[in-house]
Amino acid sequence: MTTAAELWARLDNLPRPTLDELFSTQRDGGDGGSEPGNEERVANLSGRIELDEGGILFDWSKTHLDSAVISAFQALAETMDFAGMRKKLFAGEIVNPTEDRAADHGTLRGTGDEAKVEEAMALIDRMGMLVEAIHQGALGEIEHLIHIGIGGSALGPALGVDALSRDLSYCDVHVVSNIDGVALEEAFARCDPAKTLIAVASKTFTTIETMTNAESALKWLGDNGVSDPGGRVIALTANPEGAVEWGVDETRILPFQESVGGRYSIWSSIGFPIAMAVGMDDFRAFLAGAKAVDTHFRDTDIADNLVMRAAFADLYYARVRGCQTRAVFAYDERLGLFPDYLQQLEMESNGKRVTVDMQPVDGPTAPITWGGVGTDAQHAVFQLLHQGTHLVPVDFIASIAPGDDLDPAHHRILLMNCFAQGAALMAGKKGDDPARNYPGDRPSATILCDDLDAATLGALIAFHEHRTFANAVLLGINPFDQFGVELGKQMAKAIEQGGERFDASTEALLQAAGLSQ
Ligand code: F6P
Repeated sequence: MTTAAELWARLDNLPRPTLDELFSTQRDGGDGGSEPGNEERVANLSGRIELDEGGILFDWSKTHLDSAVISAFQALAETMDFAGMRKKLFAGEIVNPTEDRAADHGTLRGTGDEAKVEEAMALIDRMGMLVEAIHQGALGEIEHLIHIGIGGSALGPALGVDALSRDLSYCDVHVVSNIDGVALEEAFARCDPAKTLIAVASKTFTTIETMTNAESALKWLGDNGVSDPGGRVIALTANPEGAVEWGVDETRILPFQESVGGRYSIWSSIGFPIAMAVGMDDFRAFLAGAKAVDTHFRDTDIADNLVMRAAFADLYYARVRGCQTRAVFAYDERLGLFPDYLQQLEMESNGKRVTVDMQPVDGPTAPITWGGVGTDAQHAVFQLLHQGTHLVPVDFIASIAPGDDLDPAHHRILLMNCFAQGAALMAGKKGDDPARNYPGDRPSATILCDDLDAATLGALIAFHEHRTFANAVLLGINPFDQFGVELGKQMAKAIEQGGERFDASTEALLQAAGLSQ
């Protein structure tokens, strides 16, 4: 079998037709086959995933993928035993060897090993019962929820609540992650302590930012006349013993599995604030949308697999074209936090420098994920995308149905701008004036949802989880550990405990801030 190194070399040496050439000519594909032009290319490089209601179009036709590139990546998928790794993922086998764990987030949406799915469904049902009981007044009159967590224990809840509960919210949710007390004070200012619930979300129930914020939130309740502040805490964790030790009553602990990674935990009880805001029916629809993508990813041949197509393009740009970043622009106000969410998912998963065999990687891994919302970003950073010296592959995400009830002109202009940007990046514009020249040939992909409802959001997130996994398998790295974040935490602890000397620069900073011991 051809080795991965040989396949990367093959990819490096393939002809590099421009997007203009790829679209306008019927030409030799470089591997003996012929390359379709125009409409056929669009049909071949785009496809839909259907949901219970509506679906999502994934259009990768404005990228440099052609039949030669795709066939080299298909060979790479074979060399890296992609099919075997995918099977392991869904069978609940160990896919995170450094921590000796499976990655069971799929079970929470009903995909995977039967026994594990059953266990996961029981956890979701338990959360459902608590959510419904709270909505019915079991813990008194609750109007506000302060959700305290960080990283994977905060980004998903913040995104889910922001995206899905603008029209209707059963509960006013504030997600607080930063240890900077300003963040917590802001939430306090917006909540009536007598009607506030505190969710402490931490997989480990040890994270210093979360535990410190949680202590302060309890104190705030007590200082403001709540007689039993502990009775207002819900713990969302894979360490229920830790939560009990901290003082949470067992009936208010919503556990999840150790084999669900922090940045993959939105489907578990970490999604509690989403369910509190939109209700359990919508939360279950969110899980069902993700399941539809699981089914597509698991059961579709690599050649027709929309997730694999995205991963091929990602790796083509990161490894072959040397793109150091990938940008994501949501042409939908409700998805304003989606780029932040993807940043953790992709960079914490695939920002790695050794392979699963503990060998140094032989090229770049994850690009830097960044982005924002359209049309705002057009007026701020798109200059660089159109004329700068970096080549940045862009994903555009939009919804055909509007999220607003205003004059339809708003949504029409939003979508027209989204599509115009992709077309402009690709076509460019030649002119005599160099300052007004646009080089074009700049790639983008468009993810077009029929509507942005709970199922669609679930599907979008699951698509990116699997895209991240596919990238990792093709690179031969483990996407499920994150040891890179540990060193900084250890040093912060050492500073707090005192007694250790640091470099002269850090010592000077500690001294300037009055923190040296
Ligand atoms: O520091 C990184 C990290 O471990 C993330 O992976 C995780 O999502 C976050 O911290 C929060 O961890 P926990 O949920 O255990 O508090």
